[in-house]
Amino acid sequence: MNKKLFPSIAFGLLATIVAGGAISSCTKSAAKGSDNADIEARVEALLSQMTIDEKIGQLNQLTGVGCTPERVAEIRSGSVGSLLNEVDPDTVNALQREAVENSRLGIPLIIARDVIHGFKTIFPIPLGQAATWDASIVEEGARVAADEASSAGVRWTFSPMVDVSRDARWGRIAESFGEDPYLASKLGVAMVNGYQGDDLSKPNTMAACVKHFVGYGASEGGKDYNTTWIPEPHLRDVYLPPFKACADAGAATFMCSFNDINGMPTNADTHLMRDILRGEWGWDGVMCSDWSSIQQMVPQGYCKDLEAATEAAAKAGVDVDMMSYAYVSSLKNLVEQGKVSEKVLDDLVRNVLRLKFRLGLFENPYVDTANARRFFTESNLAAAQHAAEQSAILLKNDGGVLPLKEGVRIAVTGPMMDAKHDQNGTWCFDLEKDKTVTVLEALNDMYGEGKIVAAPGLTYSRDTNAAGIAAAVAKARTADVILFVCGEEAVLSGEAHCRTDLTLPGAQKEMLRQLKATGKPVVSVVMTGRPMAIKDVVDNSDAILYCFHPGTMGGPAIANVLSGKVNPSGHLPASMPKASAQAPLYYSHKNTGRPAEGMMLMDEVPLEAEQTSTGCTSFYMDCGDGPLFPFGYGLSYTDFNYGPVVLSSEKMDAKNGTITASCEIENTGSVKGATVAQLYIRDLVGSLCRPVKELKGYEKIELAPGEKRTVSFTLNADDLAFYNAANERVTEPGDFQLWIAADSASGEAKGFVVE
Ligand code: NOJ
Repeated sequence: MNKKLFPSIAFGLLATIVAGGAISSCTKSAAKGSDNADIEARVEALLSQMTIDEKIGQLNQLTGVGCTPERVAEIRSGSVGSLLNEVDPDTVNALQREAVENSRLGIPLIIARDVIHGFKTIFPIPLGQAATWDASIVEEGARVAADEASSAGVRWTFSPMVDVSRDARWGRIAESFGEDPYLASKLGVAMVNGYQGDDLSKPNTMAACVKHFVGYGASEGGKDYNTTWIPEPHLRDVYLPPFKACADAGAATFMCSFNDINGMPTNADTHLMRDILRGEWGWDGVMCSDWSSIQQMVPQGYCKDLEAATEAAAKAGVDVDMMSYAYVSSLKNLVEQGKVSEKVLDDLVRNVLRLKFRLGLFENPYVDTANARRFFTESNLAAAQHAAEQSAILLKNDGGVLPLKEGVRIAVTGPMMDAKHDQNGTWCFDLEKDKTVTVLEALNDMYGEGKIVAAPGLTYSRDTNAAGIAAAVAKARTADVILFVCGEEAVLSGEAHCRTDLTLPGAQKEMLRQLKATGKPVVSVVMTGRPMAIKDVVDNSDAILYCFHPGTMGGPAIANVLSGKVNPSGHLPASMPKASAQAPLYYSHKNTGRPAEGMMLMDEVPLEAEQTSTGCTSFYMDCGDGPLFPFGYGLSYTDFNYGPVVLSSEKMDAKNGTITASCEIENTGSVKGATVAQLYIRDLVGSLCRPVKELKGYEKIELAPGEKRTVSFTLNADDLAFYNAANERVTEPGDFQLWIAADSASGEAKGFVVE
């Protein structure tokens, strides 16, 4: 407890006075477990003692440089409020001591870090976690990450990223939950809950930071940091829902994005941050800039200099300046000139102080070094392995080549077979490579080295040196089955790592052709950071297991799936393209006036054919229409039969009606397995054109062989609503269709009417 600031009698008095007054215009409390009135009183008490410089200091976030004399001086003077990228508990404590004991007001620092899919124990990348379609796995992963990272002093993570991502060229699709707003909402909330727990003031929690607000996933051309054009109804239907869900769940912080929307940088967007987020949604958390994103409004061509950028960001409601040095350099001047009001400044500071109180930092500023570094515990590794097992997606299994048969001799090959660094994926700042278990190690362990022959063929995914392929192929000939572990290195996805060619890089395609030519069954295990265009992998493999970079325990997880100890149940959180140039690609597209039909592909078009030869519908001459594998797709070692959909009624009231849809699902195969039952709807006619399908519910169920179970989903009128041209949320009467199916491309439509 910081005695300097809060002598109990004075504080008690102040609390009584302030609790009755209008402390905060916000109604909703971000971050559960806090006593709001008490915290608001403490915020006001502290704020009233602060100088303008100290206020601005709280808004300033700097990156870690260790405990240098310069940094100590900054902290003592109160000119820094939070630090990112300090992860050594002793350094964190030393810096914190300067803030708490040697600054005038003793306000603790917050230590932040990009803990994106695990701190030390690495879980599958978020896109892989989304493939589990299991919120409990995502929540547990975040809880483990919070426990590990907080034991090093990190109490604020810049995660989850809930950007709806429909363009596989965009490297950051790896960090997302994929293309669907409904799935991203459910999993985003789960991650927030995992990080923050039921009480953010507990020292083993972290404040979540929901990012990037907003529309970043729509970056034009799938190129990072690029401009976006998003009409507001579309923004509200597609990009905002996961943020709204996380705000409602009490996410403590948000981060604004690098992009502009329709020409307006999000860092200056008052409508987004003040009208929608704080006004309509009543959220009272901290809005953090992205790294230097306030300053970047200058090159973006929106602000003439740093002072103008500072003014725009402060007025729009960006509370924390991450690494722009904008607020520390210009905000005081702006306040003194009256260009930014003191009220605006105070509100920004309130938000930051509120977070510090909610985190319990005044009571527990220091890392408990006796209990520090809770890394790689048995249960954490088990949770990471379970997540990786559940995220593996079986895309193809001709002739039941998987699971591997008892006693077979396996040739393990490919550049990702033993890739300790790369199987962890993007954003692993705190990775300990030696703790990672690869596919080769796990298979050797499982089958004994006598059953495994191994040669990588290529040393890394971009390797074009084909010299090693012959040796790998020769070894493959001596085996009963070939396991080609291929994909992309970690560095080929993630921030600023966008690609236009979504096929396997390097000489991998050639190597696979040579492996296939041996005539042995080929199982491809594809590890990537994005949905790739793997038509050639499909053509040259008997089975495909698709694993978004699976993390520390990827090896044992994949070995368990290949051997049949675990029956795969992952389903795609994003559509897989047939060709790179299909991006962006998503199931929830509009129908167009000429939906694809009777497609005549390029090779079929006669010479000098007429202009209208292809039939004039919406498709590509060289790859037709639709994905290689649809959103929601994933096979199992068993089969499921989805029975007809039964509706509770064929009519529903547009104001307060509900409708229940049910479907009996049977495991018709011979082993236990899980399927994800997905509920989709279509609004056939709207005042704005509606998507051909929208996910509205899902349930993952496990069934024993021969077992049947009925899944039921109840929809209410609001579940059918969308934003019309006037930005009003409406449920419009008319004809609807509904599906319950194992992916977004199958099932029979069932009609109902909303009146
Ligand atoms: C830039 C990235 O866009 C953001 O996601 C990340 O949290 C910050 N840098 C901090 O590293």
